[in-house]
Amino acid sequence: MQSLIIRQENQADYEAVYDINKLAFQREEEAQLVDKLRNSGAFIPELSLVALLDGQPAGYILFTAVQLDNVAAQHIKVIGLAPVAVLPSEQNKGIGGALIRKGLEIATQLGYEAAIVLGHENYYPVFGFEPAEKWGVKLSIDVPSPNFMALELKPGALRNAAGIARYAPEFGII
Ligand SMILES: CC(C)(COP(=O)(O)OP(=O)(O)OC[C@H]1O[C@@H](n2cnc3c(N)ncnc32)[C@H](O)[C@@H]1OP(=O)(O)O)[C@@H](O)C(=O)NCCC(=O)NCCS
Repeated sequence: MQSLIIRQENQADYEAVYDINKLAFQREEEAQLVDKLRNSGAFIPELSLVALLDGQPAGYILFTAVQLDNVAAQHIKVIGLAPVAVLPSEQNKGIGGALIRKGLEIATQLGYEAAIVLGHENYYPVFGFEPAEKWGVKLSIDVPSPNFMALELKPGALRNAAGIARYAPEFGII
């Protein structure tokens, strides 16, 4: 039985985290994005998490602060999940799911009220995500509706949230 520990990332993990993102996405964009996001105002250190499998970094997840542009919704504390990555050799062992669940749990403890994610419509609903369309929450770019999802961490948090959700500028989504 392998041991899985999820903990906050620290500086000594940066290189391993870069490699996890690079290998998982098979390109360097996401790895470079994480390097940029660490210096962003949207960065939340407690939500930059590393998964250690038998003591070795094998997975990574980051949630960053998101702004809702609806004036009535600007106070709602929202986070965006991106990226989540697991080393190809360690995928399908539940590490990605464990990172997502742990991250959402910590975010709830920190007082975040909702999370959004742009991703595969078959993966994220397992964690409670539903199409963000349900609350009228959109991105400024056109994406297929089922791929942009949201989850209320505090029941009812997104009731009056209709409008555009803005990720940190580092994401390059204007
Ligand atoms: C997505 C990812 C983080 C999942 O990590 P993981 O540790 O393999 O996930 P888990 O073991 O918890 O869950 C595996 C399940 O997710 C499904 N799954 C994995 N990646 C998926 C994807 N991109 N789309 C849809 N389903 C996916 C698997 O089919 C499996 O489903 P099953 O349990 O019904 O068989 C990992 O596959 C990865 O790093 N992918 C490359 C990077 C990426 O696409 N990240 C997400 C976008 S930000």
